[in-house]
Amino acid sequence: MILVYYLILINLVAFILYGADKAYAKKGARRIPERNLLLWAWLGGSIGAFLGMQIFRHKTKKAKFAVVPVLMVIEIVICGFCLYQNYHLVKTEYEVDLGLNEDLKIVQVSDLHNQVFGLGESVLLDKIAAEDPDIIVVTGDIVDSTHTSYSIALQFVEEAVKIAPVYYITGNHEVRLAGPEMDEFMSDMESLGVVMLDDKYIDMGEYILAGVADESLDDFDAYDALDESKPVIMLAHEPQYYELYQSLGADLVLTGHYHGGQIIIPGVGGLISPEFELLPKPYEGMTDYSGMSLVLSRGLGNSVAPVRINDYPELVVINVT
Ligand SMILES: [Fe+2]
Repeated sequence: MILVYYLILINLVAFILYGADKAYAKKGARRIPERNLLLWAWLGGSIGAFLGMQIFRHKTKKAKFAVVPVLMVIEIVICGFCLYQNYHLVKTEYEVDLGLNEDLKIVQVSDLHNQVFGLGESVLLDKIAAEDPDIIVVTGDIVDSTHTSYSIALQFVEEAVKIAPVYYITGNHEVRLAGPEMDEFMSDMESLGVVMLDDKYIDMGEYILAGVADESLDDFDAYDALDESKPVIMLAHEPQYYELYQSLGADLVLTGHYHGGQIIIPGVGGLISPEFELLPKPYEGMTDYSGMSLVLSRGLGNSVAPVRINDYPELVVINVT
């Protein structure tokens, strides 16, 4: 969304400046230098600049401004490409055998980072509803610390709980946002019916659903009186703590955090992890760690880096039998 806001703003500024310069020209007032007008087009405001040229009939016959429509076409192509990369929502499905008598369908939503898929998250919610899941799990970073909006997350969970029970654990962005506003957000989520699983577990009958808070990853020891005779499905934000999850008795762990490495290079893999590890392994998919399956979702949104490449946002569906 940062990229979208930037483009809206810069195009608006470019449009206004072209109009203002035309008005200055008519009044014989001090003009905006041509190089500055062109600079705004080069910085991403070519659509606003082009519209300003046409609507205000300004600089349309100047040869050096012939570059503006060219820049506009390039910008539209690049924007279209980036929007497709960021919003082309795909589904990834896994099958996991935990020896359950009754099949369990889990939909995992990870790293939403306030990204909006359709009005009121309608595209994302429709895709989840089409799966008819037994449970929805949210594995952290539903909000983003650099462009925080609690309302987008609340809007999403308000509708998600109508589809299936929602279970949630915090990610590193919720940890960064710790404070009164985050406390209020958590209590709003709970009042909407979201079940918080930070350092807790629930006996779901045939299996245990457990969670680890992101802030506990370095010092969490054990759950109190966990029934280890049942399969344990664990929610945790960060995949690199797989040894902790093994020690906690997990059979299946659902994680995110890596955003698929942000750019997936064909034949090579995801480029970089949030810890600045180059070519992290794994960067997506399901990995077996001595019998424990760890699902690493590419997630849905972005954080500091605003664009994904060849790394489509992902809704994960796990069919547990
Ligand atoms: Fe994230």
